[in-house]
Amino acid sequence: MRLSVSLISDAQGNPIYFVAQTEDITERKRVEEEFQRLNQALEIKVTERTKALLEAQEELVRKEKLSMLGQVAGSVGHELRNPLGVMSNAVYFLQMVLSDADETVLEYLEIIKNEIAAADRIVGDLLDSVRTKPPQRDIVYIAPLLEQTLRKCTIPPSVTIKLDLPESLPPLFVDAIQIQQVFRNLISNGIEAMPEGGSLEIWAQVGKKAETVTINVRDHGIGMSQEQLGRLFQPLFTTKARGIGLGLVVVRNLTQANEGCVHVKSEWGVGSTFAVTLPVYHVMAG
Ligand SMILES: Nc1ncnc2c1ncn2[C@@H]1O[C@H](COP(=O)(O)OP(=O)(O)OP(=O)(O)O)[C@@H](O)[C@H]1O
Ligand SMILES: [Mg+2]
Repeated sequence: MRLSVSLISDAQGNPIYFVAQTEDITERKRVEEEFQRLNQALEIKVTERTKALLEAQEELVRKEKLSMLGQVAGSVGHELRNPLGVMSNAVYFLQMVLSDADETVLEYLEIIKNEIAAADRIVGDLLDSVRTKPPQRDIVYIAPLLEQTLRKCTIPPSVTIKLDLPESLPPLFVDAIQIQQVFRNLISNGIEAMPEGGSLEIWAQVGKKAETVTINVRDHGIGMSQEQLGRLFQPLFTTKARGIGLGLVVVRNLTQANEGCVHVKSEWGVGSTFAVTLPVYHVMAG
């Protein structure tokens, strides 16, 4: 209720009487409150939308920068492939002709060879993460594929590789070069997870309907926390001083491009297992 009182005076200004008026303002109050509530809700919405818009704009700028950086990295990577290849051939030649050289020379040649191999993996990851080429799929036998991959990896003397493959594994239908890159990354991660050394186990099993083979890489290293597990496949996620954080992005992209999938199990302080499932070659598929 609202009460308004007016004083009525005569011509000389002497009060004659009061006029009191009451008014039911319940409805007006309700409308006013409703209006205020709507106004507040609108303000909150406008603030939220502005924030989202700003975030979207920042994300767009970030993506554009990343894509530009990706293109630069891609072309630099591409240009580095040739000199790396030449250096690798030169080291191979030197190791052949200097086989009688003293131990230090041979040791340094081995260091150069290993560093070239590490640079080659990084360049490969850089190129594969910028653009995954369509796979050139063919019949690929698992044992020679893994043996070849292991030859390209630098295995420290403190790490033992245990390769355990059943005799009768069906061949895969995949791009051999891409799948080698997948295992190069998983093997390097496994080795890097065991700075004190240990055993890295690689084994394979055929899927239920014999349409797939799962190849597992298990280390007994540092393992991962839940937080790490959640961010594992994010580009540029790394916990290593010398890491880039592209290895697992490439593992997932290349595996998926070859119609496969990757699963991870890990326990902090115990170790990790990466399981890569890939399609088997069928006469029909070829
Ligand atoms: N086998 C593993 N054991 C423990 N942590 C791992 C393992 N594999 C991956 N990680 C974690 O996931 C992160 C991302 O791995 P990823 O291979 O993508 O990048 P990176 O090894 O750090 O660098 P690079 O680009 O040189 O491979 C690692 O930094 C590490 O924290
Ligand atoms: Mg890695």
